Amino acid sequence: MKKNIAVILGDGIGPEVTQQSIRVLDAIAEKFEHEFIYTNCLMGAVAIDATGNPLPDETIEICLNSDAILFGAIGHPKYDNDPTAKVRPEQALFKLRKALQLYANIRPIATYPSLHHLSPLKEKRLEEVDFVIYRELMGGIYFGEKKTNEDHTWATEECTYTSAEIERISHLAFKDAQKRRKKLTLIDKSNVLETSKLWRKIVKDIALQYPDVQVDFLYVDNAAMQIIINPKQFDVILTENLFGDILSQEACVISGSLGLLPSVSIGNSTALFEPIHGSYPQAAGKDIANPIGSILSAAMMLEYFGMKEEAKLVRSGVEWTIKNLFVTKDVDPINFYFTSTVGELITEYIHGRVSGDVNLENVELRKSTII
Ligand code: IPM
Ligand code: MN
Repeated sequence: MKKNIAVILGDGIGPEVTQQSIRVLDAIAEKFEHEFIYTNCLMGAVAIDATGNPLPDETIEICLNSDAILFGAIGHPKYDNDPTAKVRPEQALFKLRKALQLYANIRPIATYPSLHHLSPLKEKRLEEVDFVIYRELMGGIYFGEKKTNEDHTWATEECTYTSAEIERISHLAFKDAQKRRKKLTLIDKSNVLETSKLWRKIVKDIALQYPDVQVDFLYVDNAAMQIIINPKQFDVILTENLFGDILSQEACVISGSLGLLPSVSIGNSTALFEPIHGSYPQAAGKDIANPIGSILSAAMMLEYFGMKEEAKLVRSGVEWTIKNLFVTKDVDPINFYFTSTVGELITEYIHGRVSGDVNLENVELRKSTII
């Protein structure tokens, strides 16, 4: 199969982690005789520096004409710490979400037994945790009308949803639940908010079309607690934009490192695959960032292309590195491996060379000798 992939390396650690995903994708292409054609495009602080625009039109054009987008991270402290900055990297995110109509952000949360010690949760709460969050990405308070008065003593913003916006993501979530453990939890605040009442009504109606899926409803305040005290109860979580932003970040801590988690945003045209972590500028250029979030995002991309066996091989390569503790500094601050070594090991695994001619002594040599 031939696929065109738009690559947004972005800022901070974005380029170095994405480079590892490209390596892994190249190994898959070689093994399974696919052709992946990459087109680099600018977004974020690098785009502001080069063009004055955090999301040049050319980038949108390339993304719209590609089969998928591999996204690194964007953001730079020089904009984060300057509230008066007129152009900000986040504006680019919203513009891209709009341009591609990325209405569903999907974040799977998994745990690895060898990394249980990293999680702030007790080990017994982590066993069998495997759920996925469907966050609506184009509506709600993020995109509602915003106003403030002249002397900034008053501000308001609207939270709006239409039934069509709720329906399209709900169908995606129900279909996924059918393929998983057949349980869907809608998280809302329908004891208070009109938009939440609408979500509940629509989801109840849609549920009739998926009789094999068990549907639960939770208020968001209770859900925030349940994710910590009993995360294994969840299979598919469905929720609106702001609740999804907050709950998915909360859920990230379960697996122990933000660096491990992938995501995809699905829309009407090209889907975008990105690690959950941000641009982590302090680590940029040091070859220490965790490439797993990006590599697992690439695995999600393969799955999306219908390349199931390929995706499975990438995932088992990732699991192999984690089980053997070939991990980056965020996971093991003492015996850590470099970003590029982890990427290289996964490509070796894909080529079937790990048990044979990978010389583990060389791997050991490429480990940090800081301690
Ligand atoms: C995310 C981020 C963005 C969001 C920010 C950077 C605007 O937190 O992708 O989750 O809130 O959507
Ligand atoms: Mn967020």
